[in-house]
Amino acid sequence: MPVTAVVGAQWGDEGKGRIIDWLAQEADVVIRFQGGDNAGHTVINEYGKHALHLIPSGIFNPRTANIIGSGCVVNPGSLLDEMASLTKAGVSLSNLWISTRAQMLLPYHRTLDVLEETARGKETIGTTKRGIGPAYADKAARAGLRMGDLLDEEWLLKRLDNALQTVNRKIEILGGEPVDRDSMEALCADYRYRLGPRIVDTVPMTRSAMKQGQAILLEGQLGVMRDLDWGIYPYVTSSNPTASYAPAGAGLPAGSIKRVLGVVKAYSTAVGDGPFPVELYDEEGERLREVGGEFGATTGRPRRCGWFDGVAINYAAWLNGMTGLAVTKLDVLDGFERLKICTGYRLEDGTVVSDSMPDTPALMKVTPVYEEMAGWCADTSHCRAWSELPAKARAYITRLSKLAGVRVDYVSVGAEREQMFAVE
Ligand code: GDP
Ligand code: IMO
Ligand code: MG
Repeated sequence: MPVTAVVGAQWGDEGKGRIIDWLAQEADVVIRFQGGDNAGHTVINEYGKHALHLIPSGIFNPRTANIIGSGCVVNPGSLLDEMASLTKAGVSLSNLWISTRAQMLLPYHRTLDVLEETARGKETIGTTKRGIGPAYADKAARAGLRMGDLLDEEWLLKRLDNALQTVNRKIEILGGEPVDRDSMEALCADYRYRLGPRIVDTVPMTRSAMKQGQAILLEGQLGVMRDLDWGIYPYVTSSNPTASYAPAGAGLPAGSIKRVLGVVKAYSTAVGDGPFPVELYDEEGERLREVGGEFGATTGRPRRCGWFDGVAINYAAWLNGMTGLAVTKLDVLDGFERLKICTGYRLEDGTVVSDSMPDTPALMKVTPVYEEMAGWCADTSHCRAWSELPAKARAYITRLSKLAGVRVDYVSVGAEREQMFAVE
């Protein structure tokens, strides 16, 4: 297996966690390359059900090195909670590593996220309130602390003093309680004690893995439609979930990625605000939510649901340079007699676009154009090969693949590890 980026092809929650868990059975290294504990990557296997937030989804294979890459923002408190929950379930953490260069997300970033969302009044972004935006803002402003700073106390305290000067001014303006420096210092000392041995320069690890031709998976968070540059700005996250950022955030050479797998749900969902053209407000949307269990893995918020968006997948496939798709949650459509697929967006002036993504203000005004397909009305959850799928299900997936312009490599028909198969 060459170096493979596994990325979300829609608005997030496509099932990246379950795909990585499956692929990681054969992987030597899994690296999370961006995002923070805003992620909720659900994995169900012999260790039970886990919603992973920061820990790469390859953690269940003890042979796989799992690295939290430099492109991530790491909340050490939340990471420690996650580690405790996995340890309790009997999962070995002996191969879990954190890049010295990853940013550290501290409690004041969460405070700022909440204060900033409140200050936006009605014009919210609908963030997960995990402090992601403020942590990446500090990174770009060069006011962030990095995980490696924990290993050098003198340097850490200098960086902390520097950060708090601006942080406390911002908090004051937004009407919050200023951060106490001493409690922050004590917190960092605790993080150093508990995480220190796992914080390493990961480049020698990735260089050696590359040299030996090992199987490396790069795990994305969220999806292209919430990418900081290419998503529905400003209703986006503050990093780049697209594959182009994967080598930068993982610490690999630009040309190292040979395979880009786009994870895509057989229909569409989104959590948070912003344009979502295929959103259904009727009984069918409600039915997708209920059957698909579409409630956020991190915040529990009900997800907005709609039919498959062919314009979004076409855009995502091109922008990511996808070499293949992993179609998930096919089984959720098992009971639907008629299925719709959005094949174009009608703009305000009446023209229909299908191979470009209108920017946010225009996207808010588009009307989706649908085609209909017959549902297969049969249980697919037991299928373990392409040939076992009902003909109408194969026709549906083939249509999605055509709209993407990319072949289908995997199909998932249930949340459990074994409920998926490779398409030969
Ligand atoms: P991620 O953030 O991309 O990893 O996706 P989430 O874990 O947030 O959301 C995907 C949800 O769908 C989780 O509850 C998974 O357990 C579930 N899931 C994943 N694949 C399938 C599938 O093929 N069928 C069904 N029914 N559920 C799935
Ligand atoms: P996974 O990795 C779905 C959404 C939020 C909001 C926007 C910005 O599980 O797919 P943020 O907290 O990042 O500043 O919020 O992005 N969002 C997600 N939506 N799945 C996620 O992660 C998400 N992470 C953030 O709802 O609209
Ligand atoms: Mg998720």
